[in-house]
Amino acid sequence: MDLFDKCYSDGGYLGLLRVRKDKYYSRPILSPKPGTVMEFNGKPVIMWSINNYLGLANNEELKKVALQTVEEFSTASPMGSRMLTGNTTEHEELEDKLAKFENKESAILFNYGYMGVLGTLSALVHRSDTIVIDKLAHACMIDGTFLAGGKYRFFKHNDMDDLEKQLKMANKDRRGGVLVVTEGVFGMRGDLAKLPEICDLKEKYDARLFVDDAHGCGVMGPNGKGTSEHFGVMDRVDLYFSTFAKAFAAIGGFTASKEEVVRYIRYNARTQIFAKSLPMVYVRVVSATLDMIQNRPELRKRLWEVAKKLQNGLRELGFKLGDTQSPITPVYVPGEPEIAMEIIAYLREKKGVFVSGVMYPVVPKGIILLRMIPTAAHTDEQIQTTINAFKDLRDDYKLDLNSIKI
Ligand SMILES: Cc1ncc(COP(=O)(O)O)c(C=O)c1O
Repeated sequence: MDLFDKCYSDGGYLGLLRVRKDKYYSRPILSPKPGTVMEFNGKPVIMWSINNYLGLANNEELKKVALQTVEEFSTASPMGSRMLTGNTTEHEELEDKLAKFENKESAILFNYGYMGVLGTLSALVHRSDTIVIDKLAHACMIDGTFLAGGKYRFFKHNDMDDLEKQLKMANKDRRGGVLVVTEGVFGMRGDLAKLPEICDLKEKYDARLFVDDAHGCGVMGPNGKGTSEHFGVMDRVDLYFSTFAKAFAAIGGFTASKEEVVRYIRYNARTQIFAKSLPMVYVRVVSATLDMIQNRPELRKRLWEVAKKLQNGLRELGFKLGDTQSPITPVYVPGEPEIAMEIIAYLREKKGVFVSGVMYPVVPKGIILLRMIPTAAHTDEQIQTTINAFKDLRDDYKLDLNSIKI
């Protein structure tokens, strides 16, 4: 058998879409400038699928910061990894600023969120250690768990009895440390990790806690510090992580923790040691964005207003949104994958509304999740147009929304 045989089959991840050379449901081409209206398939669509939570993706002030930085440093600086030639005072200052924002002693920058999670988990967790991870945690945490090479146990999504059971089992044959791993806001369903209970359990069983708050940082909590601030447990989360790819509308990520722990990660995270340093243009933009997150609470207020209007409007039509407690708006409708494709095309082509669909195994078979991301930039008119589109969808497809048990 030839190594490439698989490339000519429909096997593998999303194999059917790959074989069909699909560019509609997977890898759609959207006009590159992110906003609430984007161009798709030659037409404008109201965009509900990008994580531009605070609407900062096209912010003029941030663009100016970026342009000035490129003028001063070009696009390449600094060259090399932080360990060798890529460190600057501004990288270190940004780390201090992020640590302070998260009430932690120290923080480390990564070039991508994905790399940050892989680097953090694989640096800290060794063969004798155990990861106890929520079953619905994002792929980067799953991959980080495998890469780390320690033992691992999954617990049922947000199920505290099962978490306790898994922690007990982990402690039975314990030879090293134990790390509980969870998302803060779950990116697909919008529900929140039960952080106060998780903190109680990890303390009871002498474990540590890693929270990937990609969808919570800048969004949750009275000051946008994240899901841990929302629950009042900032000091009990041992490792706080976020990407800059969502509310920050940039690129990169960080892990914040105790000083010695971050120093250990700095010297052991291979995804950072063996990678080029975060470009200066992003260091400056992320720093300016962090100032904005702190000084412009009206952005967060508007995001929540948009989210509530959209969610209330959809609920009034009978749509089920599960137990989202965040702006993430998962609309559950009945149907098999073929219907999902029809519905998505209907919304995009007939109604000018762009949403993405998620199917089994993220949701049970027979259910389609239309995942919507409200942002501070959406207008009331766009919300209303979208709610009207969903009303027509419900009626045209005679959706039996009461059949959804989620
Ligand atoms: C929960 C979570 N963690 C990490 C990542 C990866 O972040 P990045 O896009 O910066 O690599 C994502 C992005 O999809 C995410 O949703």
